[in-house]
Amino acid sequence: MNPIDKITDTLHRPLKDLRISVIDRCNFRCRYCMPEEVFGPNFRFLPKEKLLSFEEISRLVQIFASLGVEKVRLTGGEPLLRKDLPKLIRMLYSIQGISEIALTTNGSLLARHAKELKDAGLQRVNVSLDSIDDEVFRKMNGGRCDVKTVLEGIEAAAKVGMKVKVNMVVQKGINDQDILPMARYFRGTGHILRFIEFMDVGNSNDWNISQVVSKQEIFERIHREMPLEPIKSNYFGEVATRYRYRGTKEEIGIISSVTDSFCSTCTRARISADGYFYTCLFATQGKDLRSKIRSGECDEDIRKFIQNVWSRRLDRYSDERLKNTNLPKDKKIEMYYIGG
Ligand code: GTP
Ligand code: 5AD
Ligand code: SF4
Ligand code: SF4
Repeated sequence: MNPIDKITDTLHRPLKDLRISVIDRCNFRCRYCMPEEVFGPNFRFLPKEKLLSFEEISRLVQIFASLGVEKVRLTGGEPLLRKDLPKLIRMLYSIQGISEIALTTNGSLLARHAKELKDAGLQRVNVSLDSIDDEVFRKMNGGRCDVKTVLEGIEAAAKVGMKVKVNMVVQKGINDQDILPMARYFRGTGHILRFIEFMDVGNSNDWNISQVVSKQEIFERIHREMPLEPIKSNYFGEVATRYRYRGTKEEIGIISSVTDSFCSTCTRARISADGYFYTCLFATQGKDLRSKIRSGECDEDIRKFIQNVWSRRLDRYSDERLKNTNLPKDKKIEMYYIGG
């Protein structure tokens, strides 16, 4: 393998993070991602033979690492539905250049797996939780899980020593009344709560700008009761804007892809569970890396291919949406398929 050769796209953005979906299945039916009406009992997920094997994922990560990727985030669907995930984490940690592995999960299976994930080297986990009110949470996840189960997952992860961030997607009229209760609940726990503006990912969630609660409004609602002050990003390209409760070390974040986009620092590439490479969360088409691997192409050719795709990258969907909330409705990839 060549020495690390950092690459940039047409907007001078380096390739630094790789988000890998390890499975498209999910045991939730969040209405903003996989509404039950669309993803009901007969929905067909990817057949097993189309999923990348751990060996195939590792090979791709090695190639991406040689192009500057340092951080890998495992996503789904629900990544903990993929068997033996800790084994993959171990394999990825052994790759030169990979300094950080993280996981985004719905938390329902986390209590069961926290220890083995930690033993495999996982240091942190982002857990979705959209409300602290059981009825609202159930309504949002399609009646699949209660709040207690997710809280137990969060506590189990913290107990074995993992850092936890909690992601709350805010939908006006559905769970925005829980912004403050969530802030109050997580203040003092040491877990970083992040509020996410509801995004127009995919084609199934009936997104409308009127259902978005802006970063400004989320900030104001919390600030009025618990004054906040801004703090610096942890790293270049961090998606969350960070704040802390004034005079404390307790922080929260707001992820504002809709009202204050962050495309100019977007260093993220994505791979779907079936091995397609995407350069934007809102992409309509990916590049089939699985066929390249399975047809016997060598690492160097795949590396050149990825380099070529990234060097031509123009994506800045959220910036464009900022100017026009009615962008053409091309068939975008779905969140459960690409993992956020
Ligand atoms: P860390 O900063 O490493 O903790 O992770 P993260 O916040 O990037 O990852 P996470 O999976 O927790 O994502 C939080 C939210 O940010 C999700 O709703 C993602 O879909 C969204 N997000 C992450 N990356 C991007 C991006 O490149 N573009 C947009 N529009 N949203 C993103
Ligand atoms: N808008 C904003 N965030 C979303 N997520 C899933 N769908 C959407 C959407 N339409 C969040 C999940 C999870 C993360 C990966 O993305 O709740 O926290
Ligand atoms: Fe909800 Fe995440 Fe599952 Fe989508 S993939 S239904 S956001 S838990
Ligand atoms: Fe990156 Fe696309 Fe998100 Fe912009 S919209 S931050 S280019 S993934």
